[in-house]
Amino acid sequence: MPAPRSSDSNPLLDGLRIEPTPRPTALVIFGASGDLTRRKLLPALYQLSRGQRLPARFRVVGVARSEMSDEEFQRHFHDSLKEFAGVATPDDVSSALAKSLSYVPGELDDPALYRRLVARLAEVGAPDGILFYLAVPPGAYATIVERLGAAGLTKAQGDGWRRVIVEKPFGTDLASAQALNRLLHEHLDESQIFRIDHYLGKETVQNLLVFRFANGMFEPVWNRRYIDHVQITAAETVGVERRAGYYEGAGALRDMVQNHLTQVLSLVAMEPPITFSAEQVRDRKLDVVMSIQPLVENGDGNVVRAQYAAGWVNGAEVPGYRQEDGVNPNSTTETYVALRMYLDSWRWAGVPFYIRTGKRLPKRTTEIAIQFRRPPLHIFKRASPTAITSNLLVVNVQPDEGISVRFEAKLPGSRMQLAPVMMNFRYGSAFGRAVPEAYETLLLDAMLGDPTLFARHDFVEASWGLITPVHEAWAAADAETIPGYEAGDWGPDEANAMMAADHRRWRTL
Ligand code: BG6
Repeated sequence: MPAPRSSDSNPLLDGLRIEPTPRPTALVIFGASGDLTRRKLLPALYQLSRGQRLPARFRVVGVARSEMSDEEFQRHFHDSLKEFAGVATPDDVSSALAKSLSYVPGELDDPALYRRLVARLAEVGAPDGILFYLAVPPGAYATIVERLGAAGLTKAQGDGWRRVIVEKPFGTDLASAQALNRLLHEHLDESQIFRIDHYLGKETVQNLLVFRFANGMFEPVWNRRYIDHVQITAAETVGVERRAGYYEGAGALRDMVQNHLTQVLSLVAMEPPITFSAEQVRDRKLDVVMSIQPLVENGDGNVVRAQYAAGWVNGAEVPGYRQEDGVNPNSTTETYVALRMYLDSWRWAGVPFYIRTGKRLPKRTTEIAIQFRRPPLHIFKRASPTAITSNLLVVNVQPDEGISVRFEAKLPGSRMQLAPVMMNFRYGSAFGRAVPEAYETLLLDAMLGDPTLFARHDFVEASWGLITPVHEAWAAADAETIPGYEAGDWGPDEANAMMAADHRRWRTL
């Protein structure tokens, strides 16, 4: 996301610089010895450095409980690249970047840690642009932000800046999200807060905006007159992995729908913003969430939840959710959820948006399918009596990123026979370059100060406002059982029944 910079107006630079580079930055990672840092953040920094996207003056200070020296943290960095970025032995880029890494151990609630952090930042000659990354469990957000505030670390001098990236989950319901927002706002201005949702950093998700608003031919048909319904699927083959501690209290609705899939839905359904500015884009996305009809008000038929039982995935036998490490053997946490949503807007009135997501499904795929209405008349009926398929536009978010359009074509031959065909655009073959990881895009945007791809406080609250009543209804039902699906299956019968009631079917993926 290009951020406005004063030199952007210099005509002499036209055609010379395409990619903006952030001003000198220090990145302070809380949770530096954790999983997210190892799997995502350190590899993303390496890739940014390879692409020469990091600022010329760049420092990283890792903060965590574990005792580690600077050298150990640098080794940790190389190990993470070996495991997650395919850098078997340190190369020029990783060796140079490693030199800018240092580490400060301490307890996150200990004010002394923050004094040491201030001293360390001065010692390593850190610039006054400081980005704090909270890669820690959400229970620690409040303490860290309060302590940063008390240590004077949330206020910059002169033209410096201070920003905070907050990881998910952002609250567990509407009340806790509101409380967290209030607390953050006590110490930080909204423009300093970057609530990360890695789905917004995915190339295909961003491309939705370009696809819709930089082309003349799709937007005119992007409405209730031409679209029958929309299906958004986020299917995973993995189970709960080693995250039962978190997932037991979360479930699929909180883990995937409240954040990632509501974000995706808002980009599919939003009105065109007047300009591509962060506030305009986020205002229009907010309109979408505000327009979604309550999910539980008119009976419970709009939400289906289920939990995986033992089965087979990718040729391997896998245990059921209740048998996974750390999971309560009587758990009713949902690992699958399917929803039907209606938007109260002129564009979308009467068009259902179906969303489904689950773990231990047959394959890993995330896609958005726009199903168009059938042509009003089948004039080829006599020669080709089978019903014609309706047009379909599929955005493949991952893997195999791209966009496909299905339309009817004439089968070659002397008879008038029809068959559906696909027209495909694939990122890999069209551009011949790797799609960047979401965290690279988002880290860079935060350093540039561009919040377009981050969740604003009101969006987060609106989406909690949508799903908290569902959790309340589940809690009130106090059920001891939950529908099941076999691992390796496409979810429970109840989800198919929801579609069948509308005379529709889930796409076969
Ligand atoms: C995370 C969820 O936010 O997103 C995980 O906590 C989920 O449970 C993951 O597996 C999916 O992300 P992606 O990028 O693999 O689709």
